[in-house]
Amino acid sequence: MGMIMDIQKIKKFIDSLFDPEYLKEVNTLEKLEKIKIDFLGKKGIFTSEISKLKNLSKEEKITNAKELNALKNKFLEFYEKYKDELDSNKKPTPTKSDITLPVYDEVGKIHPLRSCRSRAIKIMKDLGFEFEDGPSVENCYYNFDALNIPKDHPSRNERDTFYIKESADSKEKRNILRTHTTAVQIRALESGKYSDNFKVFSIGDVYRRDDDTTHLPMFHQIEGFVVSEEASLATLKHFLLSFLKMFFEKEDLEIRFRPGFFPFTEPSVEVDIKFKSGNWLELLGAGMIRKNIMEKYNMKKGFAFGIGLERITMIKLGLNNMNDFVKNDLYWLKTYGYSSFEHICYS
Ligand code: DAH
Repeated sequence: MGMIMDIQKIKKFIDSLFDPEYLKEVNTLEKLEKIKIDFLGKKGIFTSEISKLKNLSKEEKITNAKELNALKNKFLEFYEKYKDELDSNKKPTPTKSDITLPVYDEVGKIHPLRSCRSRAIKIMKDLGFEFEDGPSVENCYYNFDALNIPKDHPSRNERDTFYIKESADSKEKRNILRTHTTAVQIRALESGKYSDNFKVFSIGDVYRRDDDTTHLPMFHQIEGFVVSEEASLATLKHFLLSFLKMFFEKEDLEIRFRPGFFPFTEPSVEVDIKFKSGNWLELLGAGMIRKNIMEKYNMKKGFAFGIGLERITMIKLGLNNMNDFVKNDLYWLKTYGYSSFEHICYS
């Protein structure tokens, strides 16, 4: 009798595996392994049935073997599925959260130049200045000629200025990467949008062939100019002081004017800022817009100033190497970047 195949027994065994009541019992990997041994082990019911195959006729052998194989696959399917489930249950899952653990802070920061740029824009707008833009690829007329910069001025030299490309044009007509945002002054005056009483500012990229700890070949300038009956060195100082106090968030800020020279302003001044240590640092250039420029656009009196964005950002953050701005060093950005959008405003 023992030699007669009992496929029914195997089927029953397999059916029982899918009985939910039974499954509840199989709650450990050990119990699952025991079932496997009961089925496929040396003395398992499957192994003992399959050993009977050899006594059967050829046809019977084929049909029974097929059936047995299908049952074995069904068993293995069951086994793998529950093994996976029990394996994943084994992984420890935290039951309580530890609120004393440090916060995992991987939020991006805003580059200080970006947030200080926005801060400067906000202050200029609060001071009543209107924004005007100009192109970074400028021509020599707006960048030099219209600003009284003589043809033989050193700043026109190819060693100082980026000329766009060699061309048949004379050097005076060639395009350059603008060397200062003062070029926007002429564009704004020429536009005819402004009459005798206005305040305009611009902010943007400028380029010079310079590269050391305090210079980059590309940097940013803020240009401001005011045309008004009231324009004077005194009102210029008032504006600059207001801007700088707000930018540096320092009420007792001190600045001083020293005589300077710019071809487009007369008188011209260099403006210094006083540090806590008592030392003065040169910060920006400014002056009364020259008569010949004012008259060309039928205007009477005006002042202008040009501020380096990198310079005031470095002072605000206490940096001493301008190259830090462009290093793409994430650690640096985490340290000096801003985490709030407080000052972000787009022009
Ligand atoms: N354009 C000057 C520079 O790049 C800065 C400057 C000086 C701008 C005096 C002005 C000014 O508007 O009046 O160095």
